[in-house]
Amino acid sequence: MYTVPKLEDYSAESLDRAANELRKALESEAHDVNTAAQFKEFRDRWWSRKSGIKAQINKVWLGNAPLDQKPKVGFWLNLLAMEIEEKLEETQGAVAVYESALTLAAKEDWTGVISRPLADRLDISLPGIQRPIGVKHPVLRVMDEIVAVFKAMGYSVGEGPEVETDYYNFESLNFPPNHPARDTQDTLFIAGQESKPARDRLLLRTHTSPVQIRTMEQQPPPVRIVIPGKVHRNDPLDATHSPVFHQVEGLAVDTNITFCDLKGTLDHAMKALFGSSVKTRFYPSFFPFTEPSADMQVSCIFCGGKGCRKCKFSGWIELLGCGMVDPNVFDFVKQNGYDSSKISGFAFGMGVERIAILKYEVEEIQLFYEGDVRFLEQFA
Ligand code: DAH
Repeated sequence: MYTVPKLEDYSAESLDRAANELRKALESEAHDVNTAAQFKEFRDRWWSRKSGIKAQINKVWLGNAPLDQKPKVGFWLNLLAMEIEEKLEETQGAVAVYESALTLAAKEDWTGVISRPLADRLDISLPGIQRPIGVKHPVLRVMDEIVAVFKAMGYSVGEGPEVETDYYNFESLNFPPNHPARDTQDTLFIAGQESKPARDRLLLRTHTSPVQIRTMEQQPPPVRIVIPGKVHRNDPLDATHSPVFHQVEGLAVDTNITFCDLKGTLDHAMKALFGSSVKTRFYPSFFPFTEPSADMQVSCIFCGGKGCRKCKFSGWIELLGCGMVDPNVFDFVKQNGYDSSKISGFAFGMGVERIAILKYEVEEIQLFYEGDVRFLEQFA
C-alpha cells in the first residue's frame, strides 16, 4: 500500500519521480473501487482533511521543503491535488454508472456479465437506442376495425383457405357454369388441375364468399359470422385495383331474417366506421348467390352528399355488395339444417382497401403494398 515517502531532495527529477509514484498508486487504487462503500474508503484515504494522502503530501513534501523552494513546491502540489480530485470525481462517476448498470443487470439476470471496466465505457447520459415499435398495417387495421364493429353486434369471426376449389368459390355459390367470373380473365387458377373434375380444381379464391358455404357446412343455423381475408383476381394493378386485396364477408342466417335486418345492420356498421352522419342507400344489383341483391352506397364522406370530384358529383359512393342469401345456396347445405322454407339470411362482402382508401384519403392502392415506411408511419 502506498505511503507518502520523504523527499531526499527537491530537484526536478526527484519531484517528478515522487509525482509519478503517487499517480501510479492513485490509478491502481481507483481501479479497484467498485462500490459506493469502497469509494468512500478511497476518498477518505486520499482526501480526508487530517490524515488523507493529500494532507500528508502537504505536510511531508511542502513542510520539509527548503524555504526558497516552497513557492515552487506549493504550486506543484496544487497541480497534484487537482489530479487527485479529478480522479476522485471520475471514480465516483464510474461507480455510480456501475451500480446502476448492476441494478439493471440484476433485473435481467446478467450480473455476471457486467464488470466495472465495461461499465466505465457506458455513458448513461447518452440518449438510448430507440427501437421503433411497429404499428398495425393500415389494411389490417381497417380490417380489424370492421370486424370489431360486427363482433360488437354478436358476430363471430371465421376464416377460410386462400387456395379454394371451384366448388366453394363458384359452384355452391350458384355461379352458372359459364359465368364470366369463372373466366381466366378474372380468376387465377392453379396450374396442372385439368385431370380433376371441374368442381375440384384449385384456384385462388376471388372473394371471401366461399367461406359462407364452409361455415354453413360446419354449423347449423343460426349463424352470424364475419370473415376477413385475402382474395386474388387477375386484375392489372392501377390506382384502385390490385391483383391481391382483402375483403370482409358477412353472413347472418336465422328464422325470419329480412332485408330490413340487412339494411339496419349495414347502416349501423357504416355509421360506426365513418361517423354517425353517414347515410346509406341500397341499389338493385346482381350476385348469383343472393336474391334480391344490392349495392350499398354511402353518402359521400368528403362532401357529405352535396357532390364533389370524389363521388363524381353524385353525392354517393358505392361500397359493398349484399343481398338475401339465394335459396339455391341453402340447397347446397340443406342436409345441415338450412331449409330455405324455414330459414332466411343475408350476406355482404366489402373490400377492405376500398374502405381504407376512403377513410384515409389514400390516392393509390399500391401504397398499401410497397412497404414504404414514410407512408406506413402516418398510421402510427
Ligand atoms: N363476393 C362479392 C364480390 O367479391 C361481394 C359480395 C356481394 C359478397 C354480395 C356477398 C354478397 O356476401 O351477398 O364482389
